[in-house]
Amino acid sequence: MTGPKMQATAVAHPNIALVKYWGKRDAALNLPAAGSFSATLGPMRTRTTVQWGNDADRLVLDGAMADAKATARVSAWLDLVRALAPGLGGAHVTSDNDFPTAAGLASSASAFAALALAATRAAGLDLADDALSVLARRGSGSAARSLFGGYVEMRPGERDDGTDAHAVRCQPADHWPLHVVIALTATGPKKVSSTIGMNHTVDTSPYFDAWVQTVAPAIEAARKAVAARDFEALTRVAEASALQMHASAIAADPGVLYWTGATVDVVHAVRRMRDEDGIPAFFTIDAGPHVKVFTLPEHAGAVRQRLTGLDGVRGTLDAVVGGDARTVDA
Ligand code: PMV
Repeated sequence: MTGPKMQATAVAHPNIALVKYWGKRDAALNLPAAGSFSATLGPMRTRTTVQWGNDADRLVLDGAMADAKATARVSAWLDLVRALAPGLGGAHVTSDNDFPTAAGLASSASAFAALALAATRAAGLDLADDALSVLARRGSGSAARSLFGGYVEMRPGERDDGTDAHAVRCQPADHWPLHVVIALTATGPKKVSSTIGMNHTVDTSPYFDAWVQTVAPAIEAARKAVAARDFEALTRVAEASALQMHASAIAADPGVLYWTGATVDVVHAVRRMRDEDGIPAFFTIDAGPHVKVFTLPEHAGAVRQRLTGLDGVRGTLDAVVGGDARTVDA
C-alpha cells in the first residue's frame, strides 16, 4: 500500500497440476469436488497492479482495455474484497503476462493469484495464507495454488462455506528443480473453457464419480514421490491422473475432447523416449491440446530436441519450478 492512493503491485506464476482438478462441488462458491497437486512454474509470471478509490472498476490486460465479460468477472471478484474492507470504491486493475496466453498455461491461475495479493494489500488487508488462497480460489480454482511456489497441494475442504478449501505448500521450489518443456501443438485460444468442460463432465459423464475416487490416493502418491524426489513414481501418478481426468471428460455426453492428433503424437513420443532411450520424462495435459513434459534439468535439451522434431509441434516453451507470489514495487 502506498499512501492515500491505496495501490499495490504483485507478481504470481502459473502452475501445472500433476494431480488434476476437474469438477466442482459448488459452482457458485467455486468449490472443487476433490483436491489437486501442482508444481508452480517460473520464470513466466503475471504482474498486476490494483488501485482502489476510483469511481468504477476498470481492467487493462496486456495494455488493452478488457472486454465487458472479463471486466464483469473481475468486478464480481473485487466485490469479495469490498465486502472485507467497506468503502474501497472502484478498482483500477492493470495486468500483464510475460508469456503468451495461447501457450496453454492457465493464465487465470497466475492472474487471480496476483490479483488476490495486490487487491488485498492495496486495501490494507494482510490476510493469512489460507484466507488469501480461499479468495484466489473464488476467481479460479487453480489460482488458489499459484500463491505458493514449489510443489503445492489443494485441499478440497468439507465446509459448505468453502473456508477450508485452500492450497498449502508441500515443498519449496529448490527441493527438486524439475524442468518443463511445453510442446505447443496448436495456435489460438482453447475452444471449451475448463469451467464449461468440467461442469459438463460433472453433469453428464458416467465416469465422473470414478474419476473423483482416484484423486485422494493420487495426491498422497504425488506428495510422497516429490518428497523422495522419486521421478519414476511421479511419472506414474502424473500420467495416470492426466489420462483419468481426460477419460472422464471424453466420456461426457457429448464428449469433451481437448486433444488433437499432435497431442497424441507427443504422448507417444514421450513414452518412447522414456521406454526406449531411458530419458526421464513424463507428460501432462490440461484443458487444451498442448502437452507439458516434465524432465530432469540435465535432460531438458534432449527432450526439447525430440519434441521439436515432431511434425505437429509448432514450438516449445521452457519452464522451471517457480516461487511464491509476492508484492513488488510498482
Ligand atoms: O482453474 P481452472 O478453473 O481454470 O481449472 C483448471 C483445470 C485444469 O487446468 C485442467 C487442471 C488443474 O488442476 O489445473
